[in-house]
Amino acid sequence: MKSLFDISGKTAIVTGGSSGIGAMIARGFVENGVKTYISARKEERLKAKAEELSEIGTCIPIQADLSQVAGIEKLIAEVSERESQLDILVNNAGANWVVPIDEFPEDGWDKVMNINIKSVFFMTQKALPLLRAGGTQEDPARVINIASINGITNPGMPSYAYSASKSGVVHLTKHLATDLARHKINVNGIAPGFFPSDMTKEATNSDAIREQVIKQIPRRRMGEPEDMAGTAIYLASRASAWVDGHTIVLDGGMIA
Ligand SMILES: NC(=O)c1ccc[n+]([C@@H]2O[C@H](COP(=O)([O-])OP(=O)(O)OC[C@H]3O[C@@H](n4cnc5c(N)ncnc54)[C@H](OP(=O)(O)O)[C@@H]3O)[C@@H](O)[C@H]2O)c1
Repeated sequence: MKSLFDISGKTAIVTGGSSGIGAMIARGFVENGVKTYISARKEERLKAKAEELSEIGTCIPIQADLSQVAGIEKLIAEVSERESQLDILVNNAGANWVVPIDEFPEDGWDKVMNINIKSVFFMTQKALPLLRAGGTQEDPARVINIASINGITNPGMPSYAYSASKSGVVHLTKHLATDLARHKINVNGIAPGFFPSDMTKEATNSDAIREQVIKQIPRRRMGEPEDMAGTAIYLASRASAWVDGHTIVLDGGMIA
């Protein structure tokens, strides 16, 4: 039982691993002996993160725009050249668009939907051959989808595409989990509350807004890298091998 949370020797892809929550998960994996591929569009920042994490373990950057299937195929083709199997896929890359309802544009809706929900489906589809090769009855391969508490309760801001996409991630997680279980692949999600990142920098950089946010969190703090890495490591390890189709809310008690 002592090695229940041991993920060393596994291989992972973390989309959006150059920044914020993806970088927190990638660091947690690399520090725990996982060979970790990270992907994002902006190559310089991606390479810099991979170099930083390569000082503690193995981290390989692959640049790709995952909002289109062509970018997803490019990423999976490059990983497939180096790997014959994959143990963990973290579908984390995401974006938001916040404007009042009367002004909400079609291109904003499509941008958010393409990366937040379409890419979760097609990343999983294109990674299936690698994931099928990675999973065993005892320790299935894992897909971990990053949803949001905004997909469960009203976000309190006009981010309509975002909340709809994240709600879709919670349901797609259940649907994929029940279909892929027979392939020895578990699919679970994490619905984060507030974590400091590029996406939340407007809230986290202003003392006044940060205080407002923290007041709504029973644990009276924002999420920290250890909170995110700990939950991802649990969902990637033998410890959670019988957890399938669920989204863990990780928000310091905020929506409870
Ligand atoms: N931070 C929070 O409080 C919070 C709460 C709930 C849920 N989330 C979710 O957590 C995930 C990560 O967000 P974050 O807060 O860490 O934001 P972030 O710091 O802005 O990170 C987003 C990551 O996704 C990548 N990305 C965005 N669009 C992409 C595309 N088209 N193709 C490939 N990569 C793309 C970004 O890199 P490039 O820009 O270089 O492509 C970056 O690495 C998102 O799904 C978000 O919805 C965050």
